Amino acid sequence: QKLDLELAAIEKGGYDHFMIKEINEQPHTIEDCLRGRLDAQNGRITMAGVENNIEQLKNAQRIVMIACGTSWHAGLVAEYIFEELCRIPVEVEYASEFRYRNPVINKGDVIVAISQSGETADTIVAIDKAKEQGAFIFGVVNVVGSSIARLSHAGAYTHAGPEIGVASTKAFTAQLAVLTMVALKIAIEKGTITHDRYMHLLNELHAVPEKVKTLLEKAEDVKAIGLKYKDASDFLYLGRGYNFPVALEGALKLKEISYIHAEGYPAAEMKHGPIALVDEKLPVVFVATKDAYYEKVVSNIQEIKARKGQVIAVVTDNDEVIPTMSNDIMFVPEADEIVAPMLSVIPLQLLSYYIGVAKGFDVDKPRNLAKSVTVE
Ligand code: AGP
Repeated sequence: QKLDLELAAIEKGGYDHFMIKEINEQPHTIEDCLRGRLDAQNGRITMAGVENNIEQLKNAQRIVMIACGTSWHAGLVAEYIFEELCRIPVEVEYASEFRYRNPVINKGDVIVAISQSGETADTIVAIDKAKEQGAFIFGVVNVVGSSIARLSHAGAYTHAGPEIGVASTKAFTAQLAVLTMVALKIAIEKGTITHDRYMHLLNELHAVPEKVKTLLEKAEDVKAIGLKYKDASDFLYLGRGYNFPVALEGALKLKEISYIHAEGYPAAEMKHGPIALVDEKLPVVFVATKDAYYEKVVSNIQEIKARKGQVIAVVTDNDEVIPTMSNDIMFVPEADEIVAPMLSVIPLQLLSYYIGVAKGFDVDKPRNLAKSVTVE
């Protein structure tokens, strides 16, 4: 028993839980994901799975991202990235919905299957079905040699290492890093982005691990916010554009780890009904980093403040406007909106972790959950 406890402590690298260890591993895991692939200095991304299939990928009439849970949120971020950079229409499908519909799959369609475990039953069946109908399957998977990796025609591993915490953290940011590199490779081949923008984004990607390291140094600030709001019965998470899927992911993390009901929503959609929920007891988390949507998000925050909502905002370090409108602030370093989700999600991972711990729950093995849902 004592030996087991000591072994577990060693495995956790001195951290209290695997989840906080894995959150803190992200500067390294993102670096591992980029290593051997991203050469920002020489403007090169090396990914055999993309290079060997570049015709099929760049000529795709449509890309369908298929996944579940957090991986589905990665697919949503990728939708914005691929449409913006590659100008290819993207759909994002819940694997469980896709497999039971009679989906229209055309030859030449590219399916991107995103899965940390590579063993999620719904995703396996969904891509099997698409494969039968002639689709090209590109897998973005963490576990080497897993079923989804083997089912795919090609792919790219996320190299995040074993993720023990049931709530996915480092696998999510690694998925975003891989998907961003795939989109950049296709876009530069297609000529849908300029060389300057390509080089800019390679350098932005290269800078992400260091920025993650910097923002993790502010974890104690997030802990204080978690302790302040841990007894709330509901949370809203709002974002726009690239940060809308991040809001969804932040809400999922909170639900999984602290068992508090949380809902992610597009910030501009609130006025179509859900804003009726807002009162002085409701914490509303805004993912509001500096990007093309910034001015609009500021007015969305005003709408919530006018209804006495408690505003907690994830903002860019140099932001001087939103902090004056918010009850609490979590800062992240400035970054291009295309790579910003890898930064803006981290305070939300930390927030759910600290609230879960403060409530005394088993944050590594939350009730009712399995790490990989291998049953339907
Ligand atoms: C996320 O924190 C959950 N663990 C869950 O939603 C997970 O993302 C989902 O089950 C998909 O798992 P996969 O990435 O292994 O396919």
